Amino acid sequence: MTASGSGRFGGVLEQIGSEVAALTDRGRPADYIPLLAGADPGRFGMAVAEPDGTVYGVNDWQEPFSTQSITKVFALALVLASEGEEIWRRVGREPSGNPFNSLVQLEYENGVPRNPFINAGALVVTDRLQTLTGNAAGRVRDLLREESGNPAVDFVAEVADSEAAHGDRNAALAHFMASYGNIANPVPELLAAYFRQCSIAASCQDLASAAGFLARRGVRADGSMLLTPSQAKRVNAVMLTCGTYDAAGEFAYRVGLPGKSGVGGGIVAVVPGVCTLCVWSPGLDRRGNSVAGVWALDRFTTLTGLSVF
Ligand code: DON
Repeated sequence: MTASGSGRFGGVLEQIGSEVAALTDRGRPADYIPLLAGADPGRFGMAVAEPDGTVYGVNDWQEPFSTQSITKVFALALVLASEGEEIWRRVGREPSGNPFNSLVQLEYENGVPRNPFINAGALVVTDRLQTLTGNAAGRVRDLLREESGNPAVDFVAEVADSEAAHGDRNAALAHFMASYGNIANPVPELLAAYFRQCSIAASCQDLASAAGFLARRGVRADGSMLLTPSQAKRVNAVMLTCGTYDAAGEFAYRVGLPGKSGVGGGIVAVVPGVCTLCVWSPGLDRRGNSVAGVWALDRFTTLTGLSVF
């Protein structure tokens, strides 16, 4: 492990970490999950992990934050690893062009969500993982622990409870899909698993490391295979087109990398074959993506020239 200021990515992270102080508009923390509303938009962390496990970081890169929708990537990876392409019968892989918690497309499209990263699609993926394992949230947590090497990665019960107490929209999505036969588990059980999964706290260091299999063509930290190279390519492709919701076009334009955001203010991004990144800053734009996070990834790809384009 390498700290900031040295090695291949130390210099660029130092630069971004000092430039970010000049950002005046940092957005606002998510307020529909009360426990996230109090986060300080002034916080900022960034980490870069190389495929060999070397991690560079700057500012609050070791501070745990609420991973939220970033966990959707790991849940999808586990389902693909378990049963291959089956899941695509129940969820699409097209950008939605709608907010992450939107209901409107679901009725037109007969209860089949556009992609696995909007909430409806993620509920279907967690539902399948729950059927396959009996413990969807636990499996996502364990994957994050194993790939980050940090056994402290865990659920935060207060965050899950806070979301559950304000979870009417996700409950509506789940019940609506159940009415089309696209949810197999009892909705209350599914929602509990989904909120637990979203409540996992991890740092930029943890998440940049844990996403390493996406830069290593599906190979896990221990050298075994989680996904085939083709599956890893496909997860990256869906992250690029759908990972930042109705801002995916703008994110591709500015950052040029597959990325997945969460309303806790984190974003994971992948430079296939080269590195994985995670940024965190709790202030969000109106589409639910971290303002300083997108800015920092934009700076990173501009300064290094690393992008998939
Ligand atoms: O289901 C929700 O609304 C949250 N647990 C996760 C949403 C989220 O992170 C969207 N990301 N930008």
